Amino acid sequence: MKKIFISLFSVSIVGIAYSAPDVATLAKGKDLYNGAGSCVACHMADGKGQPGSVPPLAGSDWLENSDRTIAIVLRGMAGPVKVNGDRYYSAMPPQLLFDDEKIADMVTYVNHAWGNKGAVVTAAQVAKARKALPQAVYTPENLLKAFPFDKKRQRKNGTYTPDFDDTLMVITEPVVYRTFMPGASPAAFAVALPGNHYYCWDAGECRLRYAWTKGGFIRGNQVHWSSNGKPVAKFNGLPYYRAQTSKLNPEDYKHLAETARSTPFYDTTEAVDFPIQIEGVNGFPKYKGYRLIQGYPEFIYKIGDYEVRELIRTSKDNLGITRKFSVSPKIPITFKLTPDGSSSYSSSAGNISSDGTLKLTAKQAMEFDLTIIEKNPAVPAATQTQGSKK
Ligand code: HEC
Repeated sequence: MKKIFISLFSVSIVGIAYSAPDVATLAKGKDLYNGAGSCVACHMADGKGQPGSVPPLAGSDWLENSDRTIAIVLRGMAGPVKVNGDRYYSAMPPQLLFDDEKIADMVTYVNHAWGNKGAVVTAAQVAKARKALPQAVYTPENLLKAFPFDKKRQRKNGTYTPDFDDTLMVITEPVVYRTFMPGASPAAFAVALPGNHYYCWDAGECRLRYAWTKGGFIRGNQVHWSSNGKPVAKFNGLPYYRAQTSKLNPEDYKHLAETARSTPFYDTTEAVDFPIQIEGVNGFPKYKGYRLIQGYPEFIYKIGDYEVRELIRTSKDNLGITRKFSVSPKIPITFKLTPDGSSSYSSSAGNISSDGTLKLTAKQAMEFDLTIIEKNPAVPAATQTQGSKK
């Protein structure tokens, strides 16, 4: 009874007054929100979203107007958006699987979860919007024209003009930045690969430092924090691969993604245990430069008298990266990888042992591919490649 009553008056009360939903509606909304493939997949169970790629719903300044939220859910939204002052440039597809009542319950739940204090939304309100709204995905700009921010609250504009970095959301060509990267020496490259895999290659240490895909590419133009006056790229990533010598633990990367850091985290660990070992050759590898092959950088460095070339591309299945190596003149090598829970490795030659060691004959080392795939926790363990693979 209560619900019917509210639906009659919802149009006038929504967005203006706080109203308390009944317990059953909230419980249904919570279940739907947390269902497979629902809001939770992107905005997360705690409503905090994902740094750099999905805005939060907990405490979001966009939730003031439920008609606007309904419009986002029904039609989707894509483009540069500012939520609580933070920038996102991403896309939310329309949520087509839910009927009016389910959407009403979910939005009601969102409006009351995590300390939010919003309106109760009814199925009638959603049905009306479904009929009336234009049939196109909204840009934040168009959405705010139709449902402007409440002037009394003096919100800042909820959108912004994207810069070059923002246009790097979908990578179709390799993008190479020379910039100061967290957790690397000051001579670092940040590279974005088609398929949205990213890596940091450290020229100071002649090695791949880390690779990531979650959290998006760096924002080179936006100074995040600085070291000795040098800007360090803004980084939201969570690496699935880290070089063996890296001092950084997974927690550190989470820490790096915190926006209010006042000190940078450079990692200048000396390459005493350089990943590529050649018997009888000691000393530090020397960086010789790079060249671009179809836009992909190929890094060139020397270990003693031996030249190593390394070209990194997206793996064939798009799930990780493939590093193409060539070593000359001919010599057997030992390659030390970093086995941890976040990625699995395979090599086009030789066998990778469970401790991450790959031994190659002189002939094999002339040219080989090393593929690093992110392990997806959502994929059942049985279908994952465990440890080494031929
Ligand atoms: C596939 C991922 C995905 C799913 C599923 C999803 N969203 Fe979103 N949502 C986003 C992204 C990304 C944005 C920002 C879009 C942009 O950059 O323009 C967004 C923006 C929003 C916004 C406006 C900004 C904010 O943070 O307040 C609201 C409200 C919202 N989503 C609610 C929901 C609700 C409710 C559901 C479930 C019914 C849902 N979303 C499902 C990804 C998703």
